[in-house]
Amino acid sequence: GKIIAYDQVDSTNDLAKNLLFQGAEEGAVVLADSQTKGKGRLGRSWYSEPDTGLYFSLILKPTLDQDEIPHLTLMAAVAVVEALNQIDSQNATLKWPNDILLNNRKLGGILSEQVVDGPHPGVVIGIGLNVSQAGFPEDIAGLATSILIETGTHPARYELLINIIRNLYSYYQILLEDNVGLILSHWRQNTRMLGTPILLRHGNRTHSGIAMDLDDDGRLVVHLDSGEEIAFESGEVTLR
Ligand code: BTN
Repeated sequence: GKIIAYDQVDSTNDLAKNLLFQGAEEGAVVLADSQTKGKGRLGRSWYSEPDTGLYFSLILKPTLDQDEIPHLTLMAAVAVVEALNQIDSQNATLKWPNDILLNNRKLGGILSEQVVDGPHPGVVIGIGLNVSQAGFPEDIAGLATSILIETGTHPARYELLINIIRNLYSYYQILLEDNVGLILSHWRQNTRMLGTPILLRHGNRTHSGIAMDLDDDGRLVVHLDSGEEIAFESGEVTLR
């Protein structure tokens, strides 16, 4: 695969979507040292301090059914968390659907965007990872963290990037070979949230219950305090 590196972009996801539209090859990665309009999930922005984080997007043209598209986000989360835990005896963990945590603070996130119209449909998987930030703006300081803050070390950013990309390619092949079960089992091995009490915000409602498992479609199965069991396709989880 090809890595296209920029000093500064609005958002690597937006740029990757443009490149996809223009016919970029599958597996290409768009990387930037800084973003002026980094995007997070749910319309939020992604804090993208220059040179200290990894901000990149992977272009894919998967031959998957529509109901399998959410698997791409889960496989990306597994690729990232395992690359992190390979470089160090770090204990990065996953929070459904796509947060990477270190010591229960947010180290990274994934924003997958699907392009359905145009000549080249596909999916862009955007990954943001805090590596060497020494601190964060006040509004996210309590929630966000970096590898530097947690471990006191400056990891080699590009070495980490290469390891993540290598994992992404191999887990993507596994998905295409229809082995989502393997992705789900690796996801389960890298989370601490299953079996624990959570709050799940879905739309404008907040549900309280125990996170039980991922189902075969990657939904989060929650045993609600009311006794009901519901599988959520999306939502925002806080541990309680
Ligand atoms: C989230 O947790 O809300 C997802 C954050 C995703 C951030 C990355 S940084 C690289 C890529 N480009 C973007 O604009 N967003 C993603």
